[in-house]
Amino acid sequence: MSSGAHARDLVDPFDRVVRDLRISVTDRCNFRCTYCMPSEGMQWMPRSEILTFEEIERIARICVERYGFDGIRLTGGEPTIRAHVTTLVAKLAALGVDLALTTNGATLRNSAFDLREAGLSRINISLDTLDREKFAQMTRRDELDNVLAGIQAAKSAGFDPVKINAVVERGVNDDEVVDLARFGRDEGLEMRFIEFMPLDASDEWQRAKVVGQAEIVDMIAAEWAVEQLPARGAAPANMWRYADGAGKVGVIPTVTNPFCGDCDRVRLTADGQFRTCLFATDEFDLRDAMRSGETDDQLAARIEAAVGTKWAGHQINQVNFIRPQRSMSQIGG
Ligand code: GTP
Ligand code: 5AD
Ligand code: SF4
Repeated sequence: MSSGAHARDLVDPFDRVVRDLRISVTDRCNFRCTYCMPSEGMQWMPRSEILTFEEIERIARICVERYGFDGIRLTGGEPTIRAHVTTLVAKLAALGVDLALTTNGATLRNSAFDLREAGLSRINISLDTLDREKFAQMTRRDELDNVLAGIQAAKSAGFDPVKINAVVERGVNDDEVVDLARFGRDEGLEMRFIEFMPLDASDEWQRAKVVGQAEIVDMIAAEWAVEQLPARGAAPANMWRYADGAGKVGVIPTVTNPFCGDCDRVRLTADGQFRTCLFATDEFDLRDAMRSGETDDQLAARIEAAVGTKWAGHQINQVNFIRPQRSMSQIGG
């Protein structure tokens, strides 16, 4: 989807055109997934530091109208627990972009229809296990039934495809890859397995806990014949189709086979910091800039300067890798 006439493309130092904005609308969450947050003690951002809907819309509008961004995704924390998020969806939908949201699904039973009606185009839902106890262990909340109901609500509301994200952690849920893939096939969902990344707040990530793409695909291929689909472009997932026609399954191989070379995304945190990579160690303030009365031209100059620092890719596999200061829920997944 292209958003038509815009002043010019926003090109990074590696000639990638930036077109995709991921906006974290809150750092708060109703879950405490072990691979993301500690069980207690998260320091939430004070309300006054969080961007208002008007501020979010302003940055989004600059990206769309000046630089032709064609995709916006709302993330969190958990985006659906931000009060009146459907109002924000409606405002951003009016920009005419592919508007998506990534959620843990726990509240979707009540909100899926409203989100769809407000103009949301696509929805991705996290589900790491189908086992109630393991779900409670991994998310530290006994909410499996709510999430399953949320997935059904998303389907009923007309979202298509509904993508499901499962972070795979060795020794935790790697024995469920085939079960989850089967669930995806049976329910007409696009199941995607995510390699565990070093973005957990508790700093318990270890290389040995990563289950790589090759291993995941082997498990699935031992059960069903699959064929890899052509290059993923700027999307992070590699996709396979089931030879029997039962849909698609994917892997997001950030650790073993990153998509950085084709990355077209930038991020805005809930407190208005602009980031050029999930793993970036620098942030560029837009909130105080807006609040001090800067013009759109000045904000655009800040965005351009930030994009000028976008690096070639993350360094997870290098000895000099530095973890970002913030964890996934504070950056926006
Ligand atoms: P679509 O493919 O457009 O539906 O969206 P998506 O896959 O980008 O969105 P989603 O929020 O569902 O992201 C799924 C997972 O991809 C995230 O949880 C991350 O694990 C991973 N991911 C998203 N963005 C990035 C990124 O910029 N860099 C890396 N390395 N991983 C990312
Ligand atoms: N590694 C990989 N994915 C993660 N997510 C959260 N933390 C991690 C991590 N450490 C994913 C969730 C969800 C999205 C919001 O971020 O599974 O899909
Ligand atoms: Fe919440 Fe998503 Fe982090 Fe889980 S991964 S704690 S659902 S923000």
